[in-house]
Amino acid sequence: MTRRALITGITGQDGSYLADYLLGLGYEVHGLVRRVALEAPESRFSRIAHILDRVTLHPASLESYASIFHVLSKYEFDECYHLAAQSFVAESFADGFSTMNMNINGTHYVLAALREVRPSCRFYFAGSSEMFGNATEVPQKETTPFQPRSPYGISKLAGFHLTRNYRDAYGLYCLSGILFNHESPRRGLEFVTRKTTTTVARIKLGLASELRIGNLDARRDWGHARDYVRAMHTILQQREPDDFVIATGETHSVRELCELAFAEVDLDYREFVKIDERYYRPAEVDQLIGDASKARRVLEWEPTYTFSELIKEMVASDLALVRASIH
Ligand code: NAP
Ligand code: GDD
Repeated sequence: MTRRALITGITGQDGSYLADYLLGLGYEVHGLVRRVALEAPESRFSRIAHILDRVTLHPASLESYASIFHVLSKYEFDECYHLAAQSFVAESFADGFSTMNMNINGTHYVLAALREVRPSCRFYFAGSSEMFGNATEVPQKETTPFQPRSPYGISKLAGFHLTRNYRDAYGLYCLSGILFNHESPRRGLEFVTRKTTTTVARIKLGLASELRIGNLDARRDWGHARDYVRAMHTILQQREPDDFVIATGETHSVRELCELAFAEVDLDYREFVKIDERYYRPAEVDQLIGDASKARRVLEWEPTYTFSELIKEMVASDLALVRASIH
C-alpha cells in the first residue's frame, strides 16, 4: 500500500531533498506551507519547483494550532517529518521570541494534534547539534549533556524534550534526529557555506570584490543534506522509536571552508576575506564534531560525500547560477 508522508518545512533545504527521496521510494508526499508562500510560488517554491505536480501542499502555519489540526485530521498520514522552524542561529539572537514561539509552540502544536487525531502516525523531530552548545565531550553523541548557547539551541532542546515526553507519556512513535550541520546547493544564502560559495562565484565572475565574514575559527561537522534526509527516513523505519546523532565525524574551520571554496576557482582566500564584527555571535559554539557510531551500527547509515566534494558541488552550482543570472 502507498505510504503517505507529511513534511512541514517542505520548501526548505531538507524538506525539498526529503520530498525528492520519499517520492523516489513511492510515497504520497504532502507538505505544509505558509499561505504567503502560495501567493509567491516562483520565489517561495524554488527548491520544489521540479516536483510541484507530484506533491500536495496545504496552507498552515506553525503559529496556528487550528491550521495544523485541520490538515492532520483530513488525511491518514503514516509519517510526519517536522522540519519547519526558524533555523538561523544568528536570527535567534536578534528575535528570540519568535524563534521560541515557532520552534517550541509550533512543535507542540504538531505533537498535540497528532495525539488527538492521528496517534498512529510516526513523528520525526528535527533536533540539532546546536543543542550540544559548547559541549564538554568531544565528539558528541546521544548521551553527551546538552549545553545550548543560543535561543535557537534552547528552542530545539525544548522540542527534543517535548518529543521525548510525548513518547514516554502517551506512547506515540515519536523521535528526534540530532543532526549536525548539513549543506548543499539548496542551502539558504545566510548560512556560512552557501554565503561563501555564492560570494566566491560572484567574485570569480566580477560581480563582487570581497567576502565579509565573522568568526573564521569556528569549527563545524559539515555533511551533505542528501545523505542526511536518507538518515531521517531510516530513523523512522525502526521497530522502536529512538533518537540518533547523524554526523560525518570530521570537523573543519570556517577558514578551511574559505580556503577550499576560493581554491576551487584558483583564488587565494586571504586576498578577499574581510573580517566583519557584525557576523560575530553574542555566544559562539566554537566546535562541533559528531559521533554517529550508533547510527552506523543500528541504521547502517554512512555519509557518502566528503567535505571537499560537498564544497566542490556548491561552488560549481553557484558558478552556474551566477553565470545564468548575467546572460
Ligand atoms: P530551512 O532551509 O531554513 O527551512 C525551514 C523551513 O521551515 C522552510 O520550509 C520554512 O518555510 C519553514 N518555516 C519556517 N517558519 C515557518 C512557519 N512559521 N510556518 C510554517 N513553516 C515555516 O532549514 P533546513 O536547513 O532545511 O532545516 C530543516 C530543519 O532541520 C529545521 O528545523 C532546522 O532547524 C533543522 N536542522 C537543520 C540542520 C542543518 O544543518 N541544515 C541541522 C540540524 C537541524 P518558508 O520557505 O516559507 O520560509
Ligand atoms: N552564517 C554565518 N555568516 N556564519 C558565520 C559567518 C557568517 O558570515 N562567519 C562565521 N560564521 C560561523 C558562525 O559563527 C558559526 O560558528 C558557523 O560559521 C556556522 O554558522 P551557520 O552556517 O550560520 O550555521 P550554524 O552552525 O549556526 O547553524 C546551522 O547548523 C545547526 C546544526 O548545528 C543551522 O543549519 C541550524 O539550523 C542547525 O541546527
